Amino acid sequence: MLNELNQRFPIPGLTFGQNRNGLIFATIHTPAGTGELFLQGAHVTSWCPVGHEPVLWLSQMSNFEKGKPIRGGVPICFPWFGPNAQDATLPAHGFARTQEWQFVDAQQKEGDTIELQLETTFDPFLLSFRVEFGAELKMILKTQLPQNAKSTQTFEDALHTYFSVRDVRTISILGLEPTSFIDKVDRAQLKSASNSPISINSETDRVYLDTLTDCILNDAQKKRAIRVSKLGSASTVVWNPWIEKSKRMADFGDDEWPGMVCIETANIGDSRIQLAPGESHSTTAVISVEALSSNRNL
Ligand code: BG6
Repeated sequence: MLNELNQRFPIPGLTFGQNRNGLIFATIHTPAGTGELFLQGAHVTSWCPVGHEPVLWLSQMSNFEKGKPIRGGVPICFPWFGPNAQDATLPAHGFARTQEWQFVDAQQKEGDTIELQLETTFDPFLLSFRVEFGAELKMILKTQLPQNAKSTQTFEDALHTYFSVRDVRTISILGLEPTSFIDKVDRAQLKSASNSPISINSETDRVYLDTLTDCILNDAQKKRAIRVSKLGSASTVVWNPWIEKSKRMADFGDDEWPGMVCIETANIGDSRIQLAPGESHSTTAVISVEALSSNRNL
């Protein structure tokens, strides 16, 4: 399969490799930057536009094994988010992130961008994931319900993006201040908008509701701002596990929590998507980076 992929897609800057556990991945190396995607989970594990530090966070403790989620990068959550509401024995965040996806296409595009396309099925849904690695990182998760499906179906999804930060205690997140949220670390209470940028000073696990606008992750210590723009996504999750929860996760280093924050482009809870037979929905996230001069905040 590895040789076949390398022969089928002879694109300069694109190479397929295999890790010691047999997982196949694509690496991107172009004048615009670098990137990496594992076929298991259609999981983007790295993206670094030229002139910047890596944008995505990846745990040193992550599994890279068949059937196990990767901790970091961009796990795709589908067809549910978090624990399964009906059956607690099912895996958190659904099956998409641990399933092998089919690699269907790779294309070189303008601006030294390489686009990869993968597909999979979750009966009765068909899923396709397109990702563009370039000066921006663009990810489009498209869910289709075939015309011959028997009935209307609902699903949740998330592009569960882990960002690398210098110290989560010094960042701020702008764009969510006018929005109420469910506070999962405080009895899932619905809390009203705070009207100030988010800062993180304790375990944080929030679902921001009915929010369609861009988020800006302002990391003055790294002297950069990351913009997350989205389409087709009505919820945004902000997550940092802080000290105790990090210790409880086997695939997350005890001391790694200051270096990451998740800003997740999602459709969950009341914003889950309903499709009639023949309909489709696309959830898009576009990530870009801007250098900040040392004394300037966005
Ligand atoms: C976040 C959830 O999106 O993912 C958290 O809001 C959860 O509640 C976190 O702990 C990580 O989930 P997992 O299944 O990858 O450990």
